Amino acid sequence: MAVILGLESSCDETAAALVRSDRTILSHALAGQEDHHRAFGGVVPEIAARAHAELMTPLVETALADAGMTLKDVDAIAATAGPGLIGGVMVGLVTAKALAMAANKPLIAVNHLEGHALSPRLVDPDLEFPYLLLLVSGGHCQLLRVNGVGDYDRLATTIDDAVGEAFDKSAKILGLGFPGGPAVEKAAKQGDARAVPLPRPLKGADEPHFSFAGLKSAVLRAHEAGSYKPEDIAASFQQAVVDCLEDRLEYSLSRIEPIGALVVAGGVAANEAIRAMLQRVAERYGMRFVAPPHWLCTDNGAMIAWAGAERFAAGLTDPLDIAARPRWPLDPDAEAVRGAGVKA
Ligand code: KG4
Ligand code: ZN
Repeated sequence: MAVILGLESSCDETAAALVRSDRTILSHALAGQEDHHRAFGGVVPEIAARAHAELMTPLVETALADAGMTLKDVDAIAATAGPGLIGGVMVGLVTAKALAMAANKPLIAVNHLEGHALSPRLVDPDLEFPYLLLLVSGGHCQLLRVNGVGDYDRLATTIDDAVGEAFDKSAKILGLGFPGGPAVEKAAKQGDARAVPLPRPLKGADEPHFSFAGLKSAVLRAHEAGSYKPEDIAASFQQAVVDCLEDRLEYSLSRIEPIGALVVAGGVAANEAIRAMLQRVAERYGMRFVAPPHWLCTDNGAMIAWAGAERFAAGLTDPLDIAARPRWPLDPDAEAVRGAGVKA
């Protein structure tokens, strides 16, 4: 059995975790940076990179201490090598390289999106390849067929904003605070989802992709109209997101070969309304629905350690001069889609 140390630093969470190849999470240490970024209403890349540099080494020490281990007990060191904010990614990757060199252990450069994509397998031993994955995070909204480690077919992506980005920007417009996703979900619980008429971008469109920029603009207009409560706008916004995701998912599901499981991952997968909709869709198509626990949906070190464990088991390690990649699509053969700001 292999023990993998995983480091994550691609956005505003600094994290280190130790995971064993039998799916035991030996330890996971995480430090959020909300307090560093709150005053700016969003993640400031330079501040994030500096915070990662301060936090990473103590977190590695904590993860090792909590597991009662030293670097000698570790079989390989994995770190997010992209996509993400490049300054932060470099902190985690350089730390991993230094540890790998000092302890003479193999390095595994993990695609952050693969970390999310494989994380459901860390907690569900019965989840076999292939599965259909809705990957919804602060930077992405993609529907992927996960064929195996390093093997993905992208079926759909957003043509503009990511879904988490839409939550974050809407929260900012409504003055609900930062980070936006959980704040919108909380406010939505107090609101009426039918109170504010909002669009469902691309609903019914004869293409598989997603779009959320128009929805965010409609939230701004509803807010500026001054006649709606923020809770009602939040609830109506969240319902519009649910409706869009459901419509786009059904578009693809009705066109692809049957597949055993519908899986959701990424920070937005923590949203209960979205999880409930996905559960209903999975039932409708006779699929199993798998969603990781909330803490494993948002960025963490365990998902990187687990992706490292899966890659290590497949014999995939990387040279010490591997470069960080700000952009790194899971499916490099996917067709480019129309629209600006597409991350992958
Ligand atoms: O995966 P993640 O932690 O970081 C990225 O890789 O982007 O995702 C962060 C995103 C943020 O946009 C955050 O607002 C959103 O996930 N998020 C949520 C919820 N919790 C986090 N969105 C909706 N509902 C939530 N409960
Ligand atoms: Zn993420």
